[in-house]
Amino acid sequence: MPTDFDKQTYWHHRFANETSFEWLLSSADFISILKPLLINLEPSSARILHLGSGTSDLHNHFRQLGFLDVTNVDYEPLAVERGRQLEQQAFGDVKMKYSVADATKSLLSSSNSNDQETHNNDKFDLVVDKSTADAISCGGDEQVRNMAHCVRECLADDAVWVSMSYSESRFDIGEIPFNVEVLAKIPTPKNAATDPDIFHWCYLLRPK
Ligand SMILES: C[S@@+](CC[C@H](N)C(=O)[O-])C[C@H]1O[C@@H](n2cnc3c(N)ncnc32)[C@H](O)[C@@H]1O
Repeated sequence: MPTDFDKQTYWHHRFANETSFEWLLSSADFISILKPLLINLEPSSARILHLGSGTSDLHNHFRQLGFLDVTNVDYEPLAVERGRQLEQQAFGDVKMKYSVADATKSLLSSSNSNDQETHNNDKFDLVVDKSTADAISCGGDEQVRNMAHCVRECLADDAVWVSMSYSESRFDIGEIPFNVEVLAKIPTPKNAATDPDIFHWCYLLRPK
C-alpha cells in the first residue's frame, strides 16, 4: 500500500469524488465470514463498532440483518457523510450511528469519566474493520498497536474484534492485548491459472 494510506488528507481527496467502494472483498462476502459470530448476538441489542467505514456499505448489511446499534467510525468526515448517504439511499432513513474519530486514539466517548456504568454503555459486542488496520499500518507498527489498545478498551466482556486484511502478518507486531487467530483465508481472483495463490486474511482477535 502507498504510505499515504495512513494520512487523512489522502482519504479526504479520495472521498471528494468516491461515493462507494469496497476494499479487499464485498460486504456480502465479509458478512458470510462474520455469520458464525453474528448468530450469537441479539440484533435488537448488540452494539457493533465498524472502524474505518470509508465508502463501504457494510453497515447496510448489518442493518439488513436487523442490527441497528451499529456505530460507523472514520477519521475523515467525508467518509462519515458517505456512510449516512448510503444508509439513506438503501433504507430511506438513517438509524445507525456515525462518528468522526481516530481509531488510534481512545474510542470511548467518556474516556475521561470515572463512571463505570457510562463506560460499559460505551462498549461494543463486536468490533470490525475491513482493511482499516492495513491503512493504519502505513504509519508503522506502533500505530497498529495503538489501534489494538483502543479496540481492547472499548470491547464488552466476551466481545471480539474481526479484522480483514491483505497481510498474512498484520498482527505480527509485538505485544498487543489480543490472541490472534485466522478466521478465514480467502483466495483472491486470478487472471491466469498460472498466477500465484494470493490470499486475504480475516483475523479473529480475542482479548488476552
Ligand atoms: C482501506 S480503506 C477501507 C474502507 C472500508 N472499510 C472498506 O472496506 O471499503 C481505510 C479506511 O480507514 C480510514 N482510516 C484510516 N486511518 C484511520 C484512523 N486512524 N482512524 C479512523 N479511520 C481511519 C480511512 O479514512 C478509510 O476510510
